[in-house]
This record gives sequence, structure tokens and C-alpha cells, in this order.
Amino acid sequence: MRRHRIAAIPADGIGKEVIPAGLEVLRALAERDGGFALDVEDFPWGSDYYRATGRMMPEDGLETLKGFDAIFFGAVGDKDLPDDITLWGLRLKICQGFDQYANIRPTRVLPGLTSPLRAVNPGDIDWVIVRENSEGEYAGHGGRAHRGHPEEIATETAIFTRVGVTRIMRTAFRIAASRPRKLLTVVTKSNAQRHGMVFWDEIAAEVARDFPDVTWDKELVDAMAARMVRKPGSIDTVVATNLHADILSDLAGAVAGSLGVAPTANLDPERRHPSMFEPIHGSAFDIAGKGIANPVATFWTAAMMLEHLGEAPAARRLMTAVEQVCADGVLTADVGGRAMTAEVTAAVVAAIKGANA
Ligand code: IPM
Ligand code: MG
Repeated sequence: MRRHRIAAIPADGIGKEVIPAGLEVLRALAERDGGFALDVEDFPWGSDYYRATGRMMPEDGLETLKGFDAIFFGAVGDKDLPDDITLWGLRLKICQGFDQYANIRPTRVLPGLTSPLRAVNPGDIDWVIVRENSEGEYAGHGGRAHRGHPEEIATETAIFTRVGVTRIMRTAFRIAASRPRKLLTVVTKSNAQRHGMVFWDEIAAEVARDFPDVTWDKELVDAMAARMVRKPGSIDTVVATNLHADILSDLAGAVAGSLGVAPTANLDPERRHPSMFEPIHGSAFDIAGKGIANPVATFWTAAMMLEHLGEAPAARRLMTAVEQVCADGVLTADVGGRAMTAEVTAAVVAAIKGANA
């Protein structure tokens, strides 16, 4: 029996609803498969933990997480706490502490979902956005001076290192090479940002030489936003900086029908540390506690986690079940349905149990 140790951190808002739903589905998959088991440990970290202890997670939190094979994460964000506290105290701390430098964000229009783009049907979009996840605009470099005075100043410096850019480019080219179209778009803004972004472009061209079978092009981030809407079929794999990919991945989620279905993996591709899997949607405290959150992003995220753990058949079985349930119209309100989180979860569990393959 293959055993995988999973740290579950539901954290805030609807994270507390979708992670239990994800675990239910994972249990059904392990049972159906028979070849692997998941040892899940739950951690109550997040904003409530902060209110009780003054920290988003214990001081030795990373030490604790080190022993796990993967982290299954909900969302952070609380209406009464500043976002920079909740984010830097937990999610970014884990991403940066474990050097999870590659953030992978697949986008597809699932069956049963409707893209707001008139010409796009299920199957027409199949993108993977590779987001640099360790530096760039999120490096945390900068500061404030002259606080409270008229000349007050704040700087926020984007950091690009040769190591950081090279490794994300290699990851993106590798992913592009593994996909049928072998097509990569490098997103940049080197027309306006003459240092970091020109460096980014130069390294892309260097790395490209090692991947002669990948066709690649370069697109300025603003033009890329327009291209995602106007020529979505011209896109396959995309690599972009931390901030650019943050923005483009929300657009991708919207184009695919809902952010409620968009998953992500924060990977340490070298596997020195556990990687972290989470839905992109965030804590959504406006709908928290109502039982109406869309669990599909978390299920898709769980499939990415299974794949990372070497359980590809279970990952495929999960996505097949999710697609079947979506196609059957068992959908939450954000994607035009009326089902509750628990109903979608039960339908996916039933599809897993009933699957022939
Ligand atoms: C995301 C989110 C986060 C980010 C927020 C919560 C800071 O938008 O994962 O895309 O920008 O990284
Ligand atoms: Mg975002």
C-alpha cells in the first residue's frame, strides 16, 4: 500500500467548506483505487488562530509541515484583518519558506459550463499558466520612510534573479514540451520596464535553445489580456511574472466560466519540500457559511495533488467524475446552478464509486 501524508489547512472563509469536501472525495478515490492511502492531518491555522494566538500559524509551522508529502490548502483572508497579515503570515510564508517557485494554473472550459466569450465552447480552451511564485513583484522588497509626513514615501521593488528566472523558464518550457501542441507564450513588459523585463526576455531566449521542439512567442502583458479574449485558441502554455500571472489567471478563470473552478499548484519542482495545492478563488467571506461554495476548484486541485504524488490514474478518475457531474448540470450558483456544496460533493463521490475505469 502506498501511503501519502497530507497536511490539510482549510484556513479561512469558504476554505473551511471546500477542503472537507475535497477530503471526502479523496477518501472515496483511495477506497476505489485500493493501492494507496492518505494519512491526513488537519491544521487549524488561519485568521481565527491569529485572533486566538497573535500568529497565523505557530512559529515552528514550517518545521511541522516539512514531514508531509503535500499540503492541501483552502484560502486566507478575513474581513476584519489586513490582507497583508493574513497572506504573509500563512500562504506566502509557506510558498516562500518551501521555495515553491512554480505556480501552475490550468484553465479549461469544463463540460456544462458556459464561457462568457460567445465563440468559446467546452474543449476550446486548454491553457496552463506558469506563474513565477518566489520573487518578482511579490519579493517583499521595499519600505516606507518619512511616515506621516508630507514627503512620505513607499517603494515596492520587483526582484528578478538569474536563478529565479531561469528555473521558471525551464519549468514552463518543460511543461510546454510535455503537451500536445508544444506551444509557449512568454509574457513580458519589456517595452516599458527596461531592466527586469529585458532580463526576463533574454533568459527566455537562452532557455529556449534547450527546447528546440517547443514553438514559443513573446507577448506584452496588456496585449496578452486582449489575446486571451480575442484569440483564445492561439494559446497553450503561458509563463509570466508573479503579478502578471496573478492578473491573467483571474481573467483565465473568468473566461473559463467561473473562478469557482480554477485550481492551482504551488510546486517545488525539485521536491526538496512539500508542494501546496489550493483553489484560486480565495476565502470569499461574502458567501462563507452558506454551503454554496463551488467545490470544483478544490477537486481539480486535489487531482493535481494526486498527480504530483504519483497517483495519475486516481487523478484522471477524479477529473472524469468532476466533468461528468458538471455535464449533468449539478452546478453551484456561481456557474448558473442551484446545487449546494454538499450536493456537488455527493455527486462526485457517487461518480467515483460508480466508475468502471
Ligand atoms: C492568487 C491570489 C493571491 C495572489 C492573493 C490572495 C494575494 O490572488 O493566488 O492569485 O495574488 O497571489
Ligand atoms: Mg489572484
